[in-house]
Amino acid sequence: MAVGGPARWFVNVDSAARLCEALDLAHSRKWSVLVLGGGSNLVIDDTGFDGLVLHINLLGLQTNMEGGATAVRVAAGEPFDRVIQRLVGMGLGGVECLSGIPGAAGAAPIQNIGAYGQEICEVVQSVEAVSLETGMTKCFDREACDFSYRNSLFKRDPHWVVTSMTLFLEPSEYGNVSYRDVQRFFSASGTPTTLSAVRDAVLSIRRSKSMVLDPNDPNSRGCGSFFTNPIVEPDVINRLRADTPDVPAYPTQNGRFKLSAGWLIEHAGLKRGTRFGRVGLSPKHALAIINLGGACAKDVVHAASVVRRQVFDQFGVVLVPEPVLVGVALDPM
Ligand code: EPU
Repeated sequence: MAVGGPARWFVNVDSAARLCEALDLAHSRKWSVLVLGGGSNLVIDDTGFDGLVLHINLLGLQTNMEGGATAVRVAAGEPFDRVIQRLVGMGLGGVECLSGIPGAAGAAPIQNIGAYGQEICEVVQSVEAVSLETGMTKCFDREACDFSYRNSLFKRDPHWVVTSMTLFLEPSEYGNVSYRDVQRFFSASGTPTTLSAVRDAVLSIRRSKSMVLDPNDPNSRGCGSFFTNPIVEPDVINRLRADTPDVPAYPTQNGRFKLSAGWLIEHAGLKRGTRFGRVGLSPKHALAIINLGGACAKDVVHAASVVRRQVFDQFGVVLVPEPVLVGVALDPM
């Protein structure tokens, strides 16, 4: 978002030994610790972080054939999209729709990233993490990660530093075209839906919504979706439909429904491109809050608070911020 202040202390974690050393130091000095991946999904207070920032820069990607499939161990500091590009290039399916997502690979299992019909949890075999408290390494199988929509054990219990994830991927000639936007792209272009064509299609769709970080696209100066899509009980849908029959709602697990946060924002009267001083809603996507130039963290949380309040007043639904907020908070509801 290009906001926020400095770190009091900062370490580039490029090895397991470096991580242990840094954690020991933080313990002995009683410093708070902030684990930083790519920094693309983060809003840090303008006063900065008064503690030790661990920048996870562990690199490496190893593959291991297991029957017809491939287990791929990805170190947490690898740029996520570089990993996706390599896996697509290797002809491995299951992650091609996750193309164009910024940030580091270690963040992927923490918030169970998902886009265009795929979620990382579908292909995670295990995640390795180090306890911030004890420094011990633990391997979590997929079940133990307790994944759900944009959530996991690691997000709920942030005392783990993810150091690597292992994906289990099958070779595939064709990519996933289950998402409506991707289907539309291919029915318009008529090209075969190979893995690399699906990656290119997703990149192109994301670019059209300014959801690919690009220094030449000022509308991409944000952290993607600023709120998660609310998951609500059927009685909420019934109440909403009584007033607004066309409210989009998608059935999800346990009889619940997923609402579209972007739609709720626009229908609460905050159109794409709405400005709040130096911050605005992206002209391409109402769910993205962008820095229009020279904004500070307070501007971002102010805008987010207004959006959340307006959606609540209109629909009685509370939006939950999606990025990690450090030292800042939205106004209480
Ligand atoms: N919509 C609007 N106005 C807008 C934008 C969207 O009304 O300005 C409505 C439309 O009805 C549209 C629907 O929202 O059909 C869905 O929009 P979109 O396909 O862009 O998806 P999204 O629900 O807004 C989610 C993820 C994105 C992911 C896309 C594609 C969340 C919070 N966001 O967005 O992930 O790329 O689906 O799969 O789940 C992210 O998490 O940062 C992120 C970008």
